[in-house]
Amino acid sequence: MTARLGLGLAAVGRPAYITSGRAHDLPRDRSPAALEVRAHELLDTAYQLGIRHLDTARSYGRAEEFLANWLHENPDHHDLTVASKWGYTYTADWRMDAKAHEVKDHSIRAFERQVGETRSLLGPLLDLYQIHSVTPDSPALNDKALHHRLAELAADGVLIGLSTSGPRQSDTIRTALAITVDGEPLFRSFQTTWNLLEPSAGDALAEAHASGRLVVVKEALANGRLVDPSSDEPTAAPLRRLANDLGVTTDAVALAVALRQPWADVVLSGAVTPAQLARNVRATALEAEFWQADFPTSAESAEQYWRLRSERPWT
Ligand SMILES: NC(=O)c1ccc[n+]([C@@H]2O[C@H](COP(=O)([O-])OP(=O)(O)OC[C@H]3O[C@@H](n4cnc5c(N)ncnc54)[C@H](OP(=O)(O)O)[C@@H]3O)[C@@H](O)[C@H]2O)c1
Repeated sequence: MTARLGLGLAAVGRPAYITSGRAHDLPRDRSPAALEVRAHELLDTAYQLGIRHLDTARSYGRAEEFLANWLHENPDHHDLTVASKWGYTYTADWRMDAKAHEVKDHSIRAFERQVGETRSLLGPLLDLYQIHSVTPDSPALNDKALHHRLAELAADGVLIGLSTSGPRQSDTIRTALAITVDGEPLFRSFQTTWNLLEPSAGDALAEAHASGRLVVVKEALANGRLVDPSSDEPTAAPLRRLANDLGVTTDAVALAVALRQPWADVVLSGAVTPAQLARNVRATALEAEFWQADFPTSAESAEQYWRLRSERPWT
């Protein structure tokens, strides 16, 4: 069964982020009011196109607030999965040139502060709460008191998960898969970067899926690197050729590769315009003819991929 598309709000909840063509694709006015209008346009388009999984985070500026307002303006939209994250705090104060746009803290104190903030905005509409960007050295993986607090939130009906980052995502996934509270697995969902340039976590995600966890793919377009029209990266030309042959755009091909992974349940779109999102959704219709085609596989080393990602400018 093909995975479903979801919508992530990382690129529209705050004035600066690391995706490629923001100067071209976002409004010149990056005020909270202007970005909320864009976020609501994306959410309306997503709902009309059948997207039902929505992903945000405390650190995405005011994205949780934008989402909460949209949910309250659309009380009939019951069939949604609303996911958020804690563990990164937004620190840019709406500045484009902030030294640090977000700071990581996986302590139980940060959890208590941020779950209160998320609940005050999303209340009972929160379905999935994830620790943001866990790496193998995160204290959250060994913090028993935190695990018990998360299990209490799970008992309240919220699915507990985590998102992974960095060159050792597989190690984080396998460590977290083994964590239990009172004999029950704690982490029921894994949100992980997987794309044509960085497919290294595939096997670990297959293990998570096989053990009944919800697998969510993020950065399927490598923050726009895979669709950047000016790109001369090794994947660019074959991806463009294949997209041409199939009569779609490169984003649809790259997303379709992720959607077709047998262990993927949800693949997040990071589109920032309704037109981008409409093109992304074409990925779900790419059927058999896609599989006959030989698509480009030029993965980078995970170290290379994450080093290049860490050097991407916030614009
Ligand atoms: N650590 C974590 O937990 C974490 C980290 C990253 C992302 N995420 C989640 O994953 C979601 C997606 O990640 P992402 O936005 O970073 O990366 P992505 O999906 O790999 O890239 C999205 C970017 O690709 C470009 N794009 C998308 N569709 C396009 C189209 N049809 N035509 C041309 N360009 C197109 C847009 O960039 P431009 O318009 O700017 O060119 C867009 O912002 C996020 O919103 C968030 O929910 C989570």
